[in-house]
Amino acid sequence: MIDLRSDTITRPTPPMLEEMIKANVGDDVFGEDETVNVFQDKVSKMFGMEAGLFVPSGTMSNQLGIKVLTEPGDEILIDYKGHIFNYETGAASALSGVQVRTLDGKNGKLSIPILTHTKRGHYDWEPKTKVICLENSTNKGGGVCYDKEELRAIKNFADDENLFVHLDGARIWNAITATEIEPEFFGGIADTMSVCFSKGLGAPVGSMLLSSKEHIAKARRYRKMWGGGMRQVGLLAAAADYALENNWDKLKEDHRRAKEVAQVIFDSKYLAVDMNKLQTNILLFDTVNESAESILGKLENKGIKMIPFGPNTIRATFHFEITDKDVEEVKAALVEIGQ
Ligand SMILES: Cc1ncc(COP(=O)(O)O)c(C=O)c1O
Repeated sequence: MIDLRSDTITRPTPPMLEEMIKANVGDDVFGEDETVNVFQDKVSKMFGMEAGLFVPSGTMSNQLGIKVLTEPGDEILIDYKGHIFNYETGAASALSGVQVRTLDGKNGKLSIPILTHTKRGHYDWEPKTKVICLENSTNKGGGVCYDKEELRAIKNFADDENLFVHLDGARIWNAITATEIEPEFFGGIADTMSVCFSKGLGAPVGSMLLSSKEHIAKARRYRKMWGGGMRQVGLLAAAADYALENNWDKLKEDHRRAKEVAQVIFDSKYLAVDMNKLQTNILLFDTVNESAESILGKLENKGIKMIPFGPNTIRATFHFEITDKDVEEVKAALVEIGQ
Protein backbone atom coordinates (compact mmCIF):
# COMPACT_ATOMS: atom_id res chain seq x y z
CA MET A 1 0.00 0.00 0.00
CA ILE A 2 1.30 3.50 -0.85
CA ASP A 3 0.05 5.56 2.07
CA LEU A 4 -0.20 9.28 1.34
CA ARG A 5 -2.86 10.02 3.95
CA SER A 6 -0.47 11.86 6.25
CA ASP A 7 3.19 12.47 7.06
CA THR A 8 2.41 11.21 10.58
CA ILE A 9 2.20 7.56 9.51
CA THR A 10 5.97 6.96 9.29
CA ARG A 11 7.45 4.35 11.63
CA PRO A 12 10.73 4.62 13.53
CA THR A 13 13.67 3.30 11.53
CA PRO A 14 16.26 0.87 13.04
CA PRO A 15 18.93 3.62 13.58
CA MET A 16 16.33 5.79 15.29
CA LEU A 17 15.43 2.88 17.59
CA GLU A 18 19.17 2.45 18.33
CA GLU A 19 19.37 6.08 19.48
CA MET A 20 16.33 5.57 21.71
CA ILE A 21 17.94 2.55 23.38
CA LYS A 22 21.15 4.51 24.02
CA ALA A 23 19.38 7.55 25.55
CA ASN A 24 20.46 8.65 29.02
CA VAL A 25 17.09 8.95 30.77
CA GLY A 26 15.70 9.95 34.17
CA ASP A 27 12.41 11.06 35.66
CA ASP A 28 11.39 14.22 33.80
CA VAL A 29 8.68 15.04 36.33
CA PHE A 30 11.64 15.64 38.69
CA GLY A 31 13.44 17.46 35.83
CA GLU A 32 16.05 14.67 35.76
CA ASP A 33 15.90 13.39 32.20
CA GLU A 34 19.24 14.45 30.75
CA THR A 35 18.28 13.69 27.14
CA VAL A 36 15.11 15.77 27.11
CA ASN A 37 16.80 18.63 29.00
CA VAL A 38 19.59 18.85 26.43
CA PHE A 39 17.12 18.54 23.56
CA GLN A 40 14.84 21.27 24.91
CA ASP A 41 17.86 23.61 25.17
CA LYS A 42 19.03 22.71 21.68
CA VAL A 43 15.70 23.32 19.94
CA SER A 44 14.86 26.50 21.86
CA LYS A 45 18.30 27.98 21.03
CA MET A 46 17.87 26.97 17.39
CA PHE A 47 14.71 29.12 17.19
CA GLY A 48 16.10 31.97 19.29
CA MET A 49 13.73 31.24 22.18
CA GLU A 50 14.64 31.13 25.88
CA ALA A 51 13.16 27.74 26.73
CA GLY A 52 11.37 24.66 25.42
CA LEU A 53 8.99 22.03 26.75
CA PHE A 54 8.73 18.57 25.17
CA VAL A 55 5.10 17.42 24.93
CA PRO A 56 3.30 14.40 23.47
CA SER A 57 1.56 16.20 20.60
CA GLY A 58 1.18 19.31 18.50
CA THR A 59 -2.30 19.68 19.90
CA MET A 60 -0.91 19.86 23.44
CA SER A 61 1.79 22.39 22.53
CA ASN A 62 -0.72 24.60 20.67
CA GLN A 63 -3.11 24.43 23.61
CA LEU A 64 -0.37 25.17 26.15
CA GLY A 65 0.63 28.19 24.08
CA ILE A 66 -2.93 29.52 24.16
CA LYS A 67 -3.25 28.72 27.86
CA VAL A 68 -0.19 30.72 28.91
CA LEU A 69 -1.10 33.74 26.78
CA THR A 70 -4.77 34.13 27.73
CA GLU A 71 -7.37 34.41 30.52
CA PRO A 72 -10.84 32.83 30.32
CA GLY A 73 -13.17 35.09 28.32
CA ASP A 74 -10.39 36.33 26.02
CA GLU A 75 -10.51 35.98 22.27
CA ILE A 76 -7.94 34.48 19.90
CA LEU A 77 -7.78 35.21 16.17
CA ILE A 78 -7.14 32.48 13.60
CA ASP A 79 -7.69 31.80 9.93
CA TYR A 80 -10.82 29.66 9.42
CA LYS A 81 -8.63 26.84 8.01
CA GLY A 82 -6.40 26.76 11.11
CA HIS A 83 -5.70 23.44 12.83
CA ILE A 84 -6.48 24.91 16.26
CA PHE A 85 -9.99 25.80 15.06
CA ASN A 86 -10.73 22.69 12.98
CA TYR A 87 -8.96 19.70 14.44
CA GLU A 88 -8.31 20.14 18.16
CA THR A 89 -11.75 19.09 19.45
CA GLY A 90 -12.65 22.59 20.63
CA ALA A 91 -9.81 22.43 23.17
CA ALA A 92 -9.13 26.18 23.29
CA SER A 93 -12.68 26.76 24.57
CA ALA A 94 -12.62 23.75 26.92
CA LEU A 95 -9.11 24.17 28.37
CA SER A 96 -8.50 27.93 28.24
CA GLY A 97 -12.10 29.22 28.16
CA VAL A 98 -11.31 31.44 25.19
CA GLN A 99 -13.44 32.41 22.24
CA VAL A 100 -11.94 31.37 18.91
CA ARG A 101 -12.67 34.02 16.30
CA THR A 102 -12.05 32.89 12.74
CA LEU A 103 -10.93 35.26 10.00
CA ASP A 104 -11.24 34.80 6.27
CA GLY A 105 -7.59 34.55 5.17
CA LYS A 106 -6.09 32.99 2.06
CA ASN A 107 -4.77 29.41 1.94
CA GLY A 108 -4.79 29.34 5.74
CA LYS A 109 -2.71 32.53 6.04
CA LEU A 110 -3.62 35.80 7.76
CA SER A 111 -2.50 39.23 6.56
CA ILE A 112 -2.70 42.85 7.67
CA PRO A 113 -5.87 43.82 5.72
CA ILE A 114 -7.66 40.88 7.34
CA LEU A 115 -6.37 41.65 10.83
CA THR A 116 -6.99 45.40 10.75
CA HIS A 117 -9.78 46.55 13.13
CA THR A 118 -10.18 43.08 14.63
CA LYS A 119 -8.91 43.90 18.11
CA ARG A 120 -11.67 44.15 20.72
CA GLY A 121 -11.83 44.71 24.46
CA HIS A 122 -12.22 48.47 24.73
CA TYR A 123 -15.74 48.16 26.16
CA ASP A 124 -16.79 46.06 29.16
CA TRP A 125 -19.11 43.98 26.98
CA GLU A 126 -16.48 42.93 24.46
CA PRO A 127 -14.10 39.96 24.73
CA LYS A 128 -10.46 40.97 25.02
CA THR A 129 -8.57 39.99 21.88
CA LYS A 130 -5.21 38.59 23.02
CA VAL A 131 -3.55 36.31 20.48
CA ILE A 132 -3.04 36.06 16.73
CA CYS A 133 -2.62 32.36 15.88
CA LEU A 134 -0.61 31.61 12.75
CA GLU A 135 0.16 28.29 11.06
CA ASN A 136 3.33 27.71 8.99
CA SER A 137 3.22 25.72 6.79
CA THR A 138 -0.56 25.56 6.59
CA ASN A 139 -2.21 22.16 6.64
CA LYS A 140 -5.79 22.71 5.41
CA GLY A 141 -4.39 25.67 3.45
CA GLY A 142 -2.40 23.23 1.29
CA GLY A 143 1.15 23.38 2.68
CA VAL A 144 1.55 27.09 1.91
CA CYS A 145 4.22 29.12 3.76
CA TYR A 146 4.50 32.70 4.99
CA ASP A 147 7.39 34.78 3.69
CA LYS A 148 9.49 36.97 5.98
CA GLU A 149 7.79 40.24 5.04
CA GLU A 150 4.32 38.84 5.79
CA LEU A 151 5.45 37.60 9.20
CA ARG A 152 7.29 40.83 10.03
CA ALA A 153 4.21 42.87 9.14
CA ILE A 154 2.00 40.70 11.38
CA LYS A 155 4.49 40.96 14.25
CA ASN A 156 4.61 44.78 13.89
CA PHE A 157 0.81 44.88 13.84
CA ALA A 158 0.66 42.65 16.95
CA ASP A 159 3.13 44.93 18.78
CA ASP A 160 1.19 48.07 17.84
CA GLU A 161 -2.07 46.49 19.01
CA ASN A 162 -0.55 44.85 22.10
CA LEU A 163 -1.41 41.33 20.92
CA PHE A 164 0.57 38.11 21.32
CA VAL A 165 1.52 35.85 18.40
CA HIS A 166 1.29 32.06 18.67
CA LEU A 167 2.87 30.17 15.79
CA ASP A 168 1.73 26.62 15.04
CA GLY A 169 4.90 25.33 13.42
CA ALA A 170 3.88 21.67 13.23
CA ARG A 171 5.59 21.68 9.82
CA ILE A 172 8.03 24.55 10.36
CA TRP A 173 10.77 22.22 9.07
CA ASN A 174 9.01 22.06 5.69
CA ALA A 175 8.46 25.83 5.74
CA ILE A 176 12.16 26.47 6.46
CA THR A 177 13.16 24.03 3.70
CA ALA A 178 10.88 25.77 1.20
CA THR A 179 11.55 29.42 2.13
CA GLU A 180 15.10 29.22 3.51
CA ILE A 181 14.11 31.52 6.38
CA GLU A 182 16.55 31.00 9.26
CA PRO A 183 14.99 29.32 12.33
CA GLU A 184 15.95 32.21 14.73
CA PHE A 185 13.69 34.54 12.75
CA PHE A 186 10.65 32.72 14.10
CA GLY A 187 11.73 33.31 17.71
CA GLY A 188 11.65 37.02 16.88
CA ILE A 189 8.08 37.08 15.61
CA ALA A 190 6.33 34.60 17.94
CA ASP A 191 5.65 34.77 21.69
CA THR A 192 4.91 31.05 21.75
CA MET A 193 5.66 28.52 19.07
CA SER A 194 4.82 24.85 18.63
CA VAL A 195 7.04 22.55 16.57
CA CYS A 196 6.37 18.86 15.82
CA PHE A 197 8.89 16.06 15.34
CA SER A 198 6.22 13.49 14.47
CA LYS A 199 5.19 14.92 11.06
CA GLY A 200 7.63 14.93 8.12
CA LEU A 201 10.67 14.46 10.36
CA GLY A 202 9.38 11.00 11.24
CA ALA A 203 9.70 10.72 15.04
CA PRO A 204 7.06 8.37 16.49
CA VAL A 205 5.81 10.92 19.07
CA GLY A 206 6.65 14.42 20.20
CA SER A 207 6.29 18.16 19.84
CA MET A 208 7.76 21.13 21.67
CA LEU A 209 6.46 24.44 22.95
CA LEU A 210 9.05 27.23 22.67
CA SER A 211 8.78 30.54 24.48
CA SER A 212 10.20 32.67 27.31
CA LYS A 213 11.40 30.99 30.53
CA GLU A 214 8.38 32.43 32.32
CA HIS A 215 5.84 31.05 29.85
CA ILE A 216 7.53 27.65 29.76
CA ALA A 217 7.52 27.40 33.57
CA LYS A 218 3.78 28.11 33.50
CA ALA A 219 3.23 25.64 30.63
CA ARG A 220 5.11 22.94 32.57
CA ARG A 221 2.54 23.15 35.37
CA TYR A 222 -0.38 22.91 32.91
CA ARG A 223 1.28 20.03 31.08
CA LYS A 224 1.31 18.15 34.40
CA MET A 225 -2.29 19.15 35.13
CA TRP A 226 -3.35 17.85 31.70
CA GLY A 227 -1.61 14.52 32.28
CA GLY A 228 1.43 15.19 30.12
CA GLY A 229 4.25 14.60 32.66
CA MET A 230 6.08 11.78 30.91
CA ARG A 231 8.81 10.36 33.22
CA GLN A 232 11.61 8.75 31.09
CA VAL A 233 10.66 10.88 28.13
CA GLY A 234 14.27 11.00 26.90
CA LEU A 235 13.47 7.86 24.90
CA LEU A 236 11.14 9.99 22.78
CA ALA A 237 13.42 13.03 22.79
CA ALA A 238 16.24 10.82 21.45
CA ALA A 239 14.00 9.72 18.56
CA ALA A 240 13.03 13.35 17.90
CA ASP A 241 16.67 14.45 17.98
CA TYR A 242 17.61 11.67 15.57
CA ALA A 243 14.76 12.78 13.27
CA LEU A 244 15.93 16.38 13.36
CA GLU A 245 19.55 15.51 12.62
CA ASN A 246 18.91 12.90 9.93
CA ASN A 247 15.54 13.52 8.31
CA TRP A 248 15.20 17.30 7.94
CA ASP A 249 17.39 17.16 4.82
CA LYS A 250 15.03 14.63 3.23
CA LEU A 251 12.08 17.03 3.21
CA LYS A 252 13.17 18.66 -0.04
CA GLU A 253 12.74 15.26 -1.69
CA ASP A 254 9.17 15.08 -0.34
CA HIS A 255 8.52 18.53 -1.83
CA ARG A 256 9.93 17.48 -5.19
CA ARG A 257 7.82 14.31 -5.24
CA ALA A 258 4.67 16.29 -4.39
CA LYS A 259 5.36 18.57 -7.36
CA GLU A 260 5.88 15.61 -9.70
CA VAL A 261 2.52 14.09 -8.81
CA ALA A 262 0.88 17.53 -8.98
CA GLN A 263 2.09 17.95 -12.56
CA VAL A 264 0.16 14.82 -13.64
CA ILE A 265 -2.93 16.17 -11.88
CA PHE A 266 -2.45 19.55 -13.56
CA ASP A 267 -2.29 17.85 -16.96
CA SER A 268 -5.44 15.78 -16.39
CA LYS A 269 -8.99 16.80 -17.32
CA TYR A 270 -10.78 15.11 -14.41
CA LEU A 271 -8.67 16.64 -11.63
CA ALA A 272 -7.51 20.20 -10.88
CA VAL A 273 -4.65 21.67 -8.87
CA ASP A 274 -3.31 25.16 -8.28
CA MET A 275 0.42 24.71 -8.95
CA ASN A 276 1.21 28.13 -7.46
CA LYS A 277 0.03 26.92 -4.04
CA LEU A 278 2.33 23.93 -4.02
CA GLN A 279 5.31 24.82 -1.83
CA THR A 280 5.88 21.85 0.46
CA ASN A 281 4.83 18.21 1.04
CA ILE A 282 1.06 18.73 1.15
CA LEU A 283 -0.75 18.39 -2.15
CA LEU A 284 -4.39 19.47 -2.20
CA PHE A 285 -6.33 18.89 -5.39
CA ASP A 286 -9.90 18.93 -6.61
CA THR A 287 -12.00 16.50 -8.55
CA VAL A 288 -13.89 17.93 -11.52
CA ASN A 289 -16.94 15.78 -12.37
CA GLU A 290 -16.70 13.12 -9.70
CA SER A 291 -16.73 13.10 -5.90
CA ALA A 292 -13.52 12.87 -3.90
CA GLU A 293 -14.84 9.61 -2.36
CA SER A 294 -15.24 8.04 -5.79
CA ILE A 295 -11.68 8.94 -6.88
CA LEU A 296 -10.30 7.80 -3.51
CA GLY A 297 -12.05 4.44 -3.96
CA LYS A 298 -10.45 3.97 -7.39
CA LEU A 299 -7.02 4.87 -5.99
CA GLU A 300 -7.45 2.49 -3.09
CA ASN A 301 -8.23 -0.33 -5.53
CA LYS A 302 -4.78 0.38 -7.00
CA GLY A 303 -3.13 0.24 -3.60
CA ILE A 304 -2.91 4.02 -3.01
CA LYS A 305 -4.34 5.82 -0.01
CA MET A 306 -5.10 9.55 0.21
CA ILE A 307 -7.71 11.36 2.32
CA PRO A 308 -10.78 13.47 1.54
CA PHE A 309 -10.46 17.15 2.45
CA GLY A 310 -13.95 18.15 1.31
CA PRO A 311 -16.62 16.72 -1.02
CA ASN A 312 -14.43 17.46 -4.06
CA THR A 313 -11.02 17.89 -2.49
CA ILE A 314 -8.30 15.31 -1.78
CA ARG A 315 -5.09 15.63 0.24
CA ALA A 316 -1.91 13.67 -0.51
CA THR A 317 0.96 14.18 1.92
CA PHE A 318 4.51 13.11 1.10
CA HIS A 319 6.95 11.67 3.63
CA PHE A 320 10.17 9.64 3.71
CA GLU A 321 8.48 6.25 3.36
CA ILE A 322 7.37 7.29 -0.14
CA THR A 323 9.99 6.43 -2.76
CA ASP A 324 10.50 7.57 -6.36
CA LYS A 325 9.13 4.18 -7.45
CA ASP A 326 5.95 4.85 -5.42
CA VAL A 327 5.65 8.24 -7.10
CA GLU A 328 5.82 6.58 -10.53
CA GLU A 329 3.03 4.20 -9.47
CA VAL A 330 0.86 7.05 -8.19
CA LYS A 331 1.39 9.01 -11.41
CA ALA A 332 0.50 5.97 -13.54
CA ALA A 333 -2.60 5.26 -11.45
CA LEU A 334 -3.82 8.85 -11.80
CA VAL A 335 -3.36 8.73 -15.56
CA GLU A 336 -5.16 5.36 -15.80
CA ILE A 337 -8.12 6.49 -13.70
CA GLY A 338 -8.61 9.45 -16.03
CA GLN A 339 -8.88 7.30 -19.17
C1 LIG B 1 -0.77 22.32 11.46
C2 LIG B 1 -0.95 21.32 12.53
N1 LIG B 1 -0.93 21.72 13.81
C3 LIG B 1 -1.07 20.86 14.83
C4 LIG B 1 -1.24 19.52 14.60
C5 LIG B 1 -1.47 18.60 15.77
O1 LIG B 1 -0.49 17.68 15.96
P1 LIG B 1 -0.79 16.31 16.78
O2 LIG B 1 -1.48 15.41 15.82
O3 LIG B 1 0.57 15.86 17.17
O4 LIG B 1 -1.64 16.68 17.94
C6 LIG B 1 -1.26 19.04 13.29
C7 LIG B 1 -1.46 17.60 13.01
O5 LIG B 1 -1.40 17.14 11.92
C8 LIG B 1 -1.13 19.97 12.23
O6 LIG B 1 -1.19 19.59 10.94
